[in-house]
Amino acid sequence: MLRTHHCGELTAKHISNKVTLCGWVDTRRDHGNLIFIDLRDRWGKTQLIFNPEKNREIHCTAEKLRSEFVVQARGVVQKRPEGTLNPKIQTGQIEVEVTELQILNASEVPPFEIVDDSPVSEEIRLKYRYLDLRRPAMFKRLQTRHRITKIVRDYLDEHHFIEVETPMLTKSTPEGARDFLVPSRLSAGTFYALPQSPQLFKQILMISGFDRYFQLARCLRDEDLRADRQPEHTQIDIEMSFVSEDDIISMIEGLLARVIKAIRGVDVKTPFPRLSYQDTMNRFGSDKPDLRFGLEFQDATSLLGGSELKIFQEVVKQKGVVKGLSVSGANFSRSDFDRLIAFVQGFGAKGLAWIKVAADGIESPIGKFLKPDEQKKLITLFRAKAGDTIFLIADQWLTTCAALGALRNQLAGELKLIPQTKELNLAWIVDFPLFQWSEEEKRLDAVHHPFTAPQEADLAFFDKEPLKVKARAYDIIFNGTEVGGGSIRIHQEEVQKKVFHSLGITDQDAEGKFGFLLRALRFGAPPHGGIAIGLDRLCAILEGVESIRDVIAFPKTQKGSCPMTEAPSKVSDKQLKELHLQIKPS
Ligand code: AMO
Repeated sequence: MLRTHHCGELTAKHISNKVTLCGWVDTRRDHGNLIFIDLRDRWGKTQLIFNPEKNREIHCTAEKLRSEFVVQARGVVQKRPEGTLNPKIQTGQIEVEVTELQILNASEVPPFEIVDDSPVSEEIRLKYRYLDLRRPAMFKRLQTRHRITKIVRDYLDEHHFIEVETPMLTKSTPEGARDFLVPSRLSAGTFYALPQSPQLFKQILMISGFDRYFQLARCLRDEDLRADRQPEHTQIDIEMSFVSEDDIISMIEGLLARVIKAIRGVDVKTPFPRLSYQDTMNRFGSDKPDLRFGLEFQDATSLLGGSELKIFQEVVKQKGVVKGLSVSGANFSRSDFDRLIAFVQGFGAKGLAWIKVAADGIESPIGKFLKPDEQKKLITLFRAKAGDTIFLIADQWLTTCAALGALRNQLAGELKLIPQTKELNLAWIVDFPLFQWSEEEKRLDAVHHPFTAPQEADLAFFDKEPLKVKARAYDIIFNGTEVGGGSIRIHQEEVQKKVFHSLGITDQDAEGKFGFLLRALRFGAPPHGGIAIGLDRLCAILEGVESIRDVIAFPKTQKGSCPMTEAPSKVSDKQLKELHLQIKPS
């Protein structure tokens, strides 16, 4: 080893020891004749001192040191003089008086200072990711990620799961995103798809009798990127045989409780609450509600359907709903209301009515259409007090819920209603519909994926009212983020074909795309189910960061590029030719 200790290790008990340290020059301070260097590595910092009276030659070398030079320093540990102790760091009692110094490598002037709160753009951080990752906070985040995966592996191993790797070059699995495709050199004109998830392979492993599978699986999806979405993400991917929803749910609760205890030191209460999709949409307007704050909706359909307001009458006639929420402690201006109206319109709502509640009545553009009795009942329904504002949306059920849900999150953000404490809120959303209507494609779409089993009791609706069929699916939400989702799967070929038909997938299409699965289902497929937890999202929440990019060593930008490697990039004509590809000028 080039060193005897690391930079976060030396304390008063090492005084008088001769030590060798290696690391990066964090800061250099010159005090008269003395030079002080903070030497940094992943463990911490140690103060080096160079005294020209004791060693002129080494002092001369130390004068050459600049930020981020890599050095090896040998010397003697000594107590820092009284008044210069730093109780904030482990090594704050000592310093090393250097007797030998070697510059192992120089560094250009870094484009930003290697400190945790460096005001630097994300583009530059990603271009110089190696420097960004030298920041202690970034190291800690990746260390947390490592600890989570270690706990996950240990827990699942204890519960008899085995880790199996599945292919990266494969066939498309429909998880709702676009595929990344890889052209085949050996078979002209054909493509592999990179896996959006190992869904079908893990089901096939159940058919193989593996019983309990897991994998820390890289999943690749070509979709629009956001703070919690990357083109490649990692899932804690799990599948189990001969189980019901409850078995999977309690296995995951045990896993998450263990991870949270280890990372945050908190005992989370299990079982986590379960909310049905219908209930969560009705109350919070989202299938991933943030339950750390209120602003729960009330249904004013029966109260206002008969009011003189034409819009409400029309909506109710067309079987729509009138729903709303009430906010305390905000004095909205007209321009705030205009802005919020435009906001909900962005989510498909036609409009947003507002009612300011005062001690002596209400102020609202719709006030004159509401009878005193209706006004009173409305205030009672929303339990509103003077100073509160009630917002109402009237539209079809889903549009109303979704727009009001977006407004709920927006207001919570603006009014700082989300507790910034260490509150951890976990819940399951269950009883999702199996299908949703895709207006774009004018056909049914799977809410989860097409391999999700329908609930037995709803099979009667399958042909005539497919939107009423509920799925045996469950999502887990953590502080308003969907961190995982799974289901009991279809294990019978006839049911799988029935679902494919409902989704407009013909027998021929099914054979072409999923023939291997349908064939496998014919060879004794056990009942099975599973789940995948988004590791990046879980890690980001536990580390308290906004973006999953901060818990991924080498993430992509919002545009899907890597500023460090400059991927994606052009390839040579020779490579294109080998792959039987030609680029059309755009
Ligand atoms: P699903 O598509 O819901 O399910 O994904 C599971 C979890 O993975 C995370 N996730 C993502 N994280 C970051 N970037 C992305 N682009 C991204 N996409 C998904 C989310 C999500 O909850 N095969 C099924 C699971 C199953 O049924 O077992 C699946 O992939 O946290």
